Amino acid sequence: MNVEPERDAIDAIDIDRIEGNIEFKDVTYSYDHEQCVLDHIDLSIKQGQTFALVGPSGGGKTTICHLIPNFYEINQGQIFIDEIDIRHIKRDSLRRNIGIVQQDIYLFNASIKENILYGRLDASDEEVIEAAKRANIHDYIMTLEHGYDTQIGERGVRLSGGQKQRLSIARVFLKNPPILILDEATSALDNTTEILIQQALDELCKGRTTLVVAHRLSTIKNADEIAVVSQGRIIEQGNHIQLMAKDGLYASLYRLQFREN
Ligand SMILES: Nc1ncnc2c1ncn2[C@@H]1O[C@H](COP(=O)(O)OP(=O)(O)OP(=O)(O)O)[C@@H](O)[C@H]1O
Ligand SMILES: [Mg+2]
Repeated sequence: MNVEPERDAIDAIDIDRIEGNIEFKDVTYSYDHEQCVLDHIDLSIKQGQTFALVGPSGGGKTTICHLIPNFYEINQGQIFIDEIDIRHIKRDSLRRNIGIVQQDIYLFNASIKENILYGRLDASDEEVIEAAKRANIHDYIMTLEHGYDTQIGERGVRLSGGQKQRLSIARVFLKNPPILILDEATSALDNTTEILIQQALDELCKGRTTLVVAHRLSTIKNADEIAVVSQGRIIEQGNHIQLMAKDGLYASLYRLQFREN
């Protein structure tokens, strides 16, 4: 109740559907104006590219993701979408163009259908079902007695982490935004669920600019660009082959995971 509502700049513009180029120029950010969480970050993602962020816990990956929809005001630098500073874009029009699959997923105490509809409120039943199918969750929903009308949350079914994640993927299919942000869950999923989710995500990325935070490096081997983020800085960047050749932190993390598998 005490938090000030967000206010757009007076001259902020409405953007329609954007192309999806993202650029960070010398971005510095701190949550509390004391401890620097992002330290002079530069990055550039072209329309349709997949850009991956990897690195140790607490490094600043989720924070980078949250700056793109303008959730927080940066202390220094600029963030551009299609060469427009995001501070000059109305937040609701910016956010209409961005889909996020988060680490922790928020679901409403409402029906499964309503939870998917949150992606785009005016969608038809057919579109909701189509989105659920593409997210690999339709078959599970059909096993429930009340199907899409099943209540979830306190008064209804409890969904597993993997099921929640697929519901949130269905939302983004329905929303169909040009920019996609995937902040991969750290919690371990069983193999079958993981495959179902990975298939749905691979499909979801197609034709969009995608910023993905990955903990399992095998999932981002094909990314156009990979940045290693540690202590608020990008310490290495390149594609998988370039980073392996460099033999730095990425290469050692990759070899470690490869051995575990
Ligand atoms: N809402 C917040 N308020 C204050 N500090 C925060 C907040 N969110 C994150 N931080 C701090 O910012 C730093 C970066 O956190 P961030 O969540 O971006 O890391 P991450 O790279 O996503 O880590 P993980 O791999 O564990 O998800 C951490 O030191 C964290 O404690
Ligand atoms: Mg994170």
